[in-house]
Amino acid sequence: MKILLTGGLGYIGSHTAVELLNHHHEVIIVDNLANSSLSVLDRLKKITHQEIPFYQIDVANKVELEPVFLHHTFDAIIHFAGLKAVGESVAKPLEYYQNNVLATLNLASFSIKYGVHKFVFSSSATVYGDQPSPLIETMELKTTTNPYGETKAMSERILTDAAKANPPFSVSLLRYFNPIGAHESALIGENPNGIPNNLMPYITKVAKGELKELQIYGQDYPTIDGTGIRDYIHVVDLAKGHIAALNKMKSAVNIYNLGTGKGVSVLELVTAFQNVNHVRVPYKVVGRRPGDLAIVYADPGKAKRELGWETSKTIEDMCRDAWNFEKQNV
Ligand code: NAD
Ligand code: UFG
Repeated sequence: MKILLTGGLGYIGSHTAVELLNHHHEVIIVDNLANSSLSVLDRLKKITHQEIPFYQIDVANKVELEPVFLHHTFDAIIHFAGLKAVGESVAKPLEYYQNNVLATLNLASFSIKYGVHKFVFSSSATVYGDQPSPLIETMELKTTTNPYGETKAMSERILTDAAKANPPFSVSLLRYFNPIGAHESALIGENPNGIPNNLMPYITKVAKGELKELQIYGQDYPTIDGTGIRDYIHVVDLAKGHIAALNKMKSAVNIYNLGTGKGVSVLELVTAFQNVNHVRVPYKVVGRRPGDLAIVYADPGKAKRELGWETSKTIEDMCRDAWNFEKQNV
């Protein structure tokens, strides 16, 4: 298939590009470099030994986007492009709605106009809102606690309505849990700008000595050790989930959780990281982070049954690969 990857130089997009090329698909990347850099394109070439056509454009801008559809005939789109910092979205809600919702609207419109029938969307577990885990695709969505989450819920609704009204246009809404880790080459991985918001990139910076200590947000949750529980998934397993979703798109709207189904606490992750990598991660427990939920993990059964996809990498793999990437690159 010939596939357009929006946001393909970002963390998840770049790993998915590698998997697609390994499976002999043709990949075109568009990205505005808002949270990535051109060096990722060189690294993708090093890993795959292939040239990847790239356009530096803003997909929220129709005028910039349309020529890409005029120059190429795509079989599918995987839409990763988006702003993703939860805290920033509370401070700058309009930028988030403008960027994330317009990007989805533009891409859906051009998909239909130019006859691209398969559309895979990067959604998030955050769309479930505050509901008991394991989270399952049949649950009704609850209001999320931040504008970022709302942009994901809105994009899901826009794509669902567009697919219902425009057969054979079909969408797969992939609800990611917590991707961490990096490619085994250590050439690509997660490299956020500034001080990381997310747990794993913070841990790797502390282990490297660039940040003094990890702050654990709360040890008074109703969990095994009082710290928050999440479903961490290796980014390469997540990337492979996109290929499974593309291959098995069968109806107008397909929704899948991409997670492991296993909950891991903050302290368990820190302990695993220290043991696997033989490094220290100093930490202190502070108050809860506003908006955080105690326990979030997937029921991954539907993806296994319908897509034949399941994760294979362990927490130890995730910790080792994240550290290798940090040590060798950032
Ligand atoms: P990322 O920031 O590394 O990658 C996103 C890419 O999109 C970046 O390269 C950025 O430059 C680009 N981009 C942003 N707005 C754009 C625009 N208007 N036009 C063109 N390019 C644009 O993030 P990621 O972790 O790779 O996430 C990919 C997608 O998955 C995002 O939509 C994100 O919301 C979603 N997601 C991520 C997580 C996570 O924890 N990483 C969890 C759930 C969902
Ligand atoms: N945490 C800390 N200290 C930190 C950072 C995080 O203790 O410095 C804790 C959090 O309280 C939480 C866990 O580590 O218990 C994971 O936090 P992350 O910020 O890494 O991830 P979240 O689960 O909060 O959110 C992530 C993405 C969202 C996405 C969601 C999907 O940031 O965009 O996963 O489940 F929607």
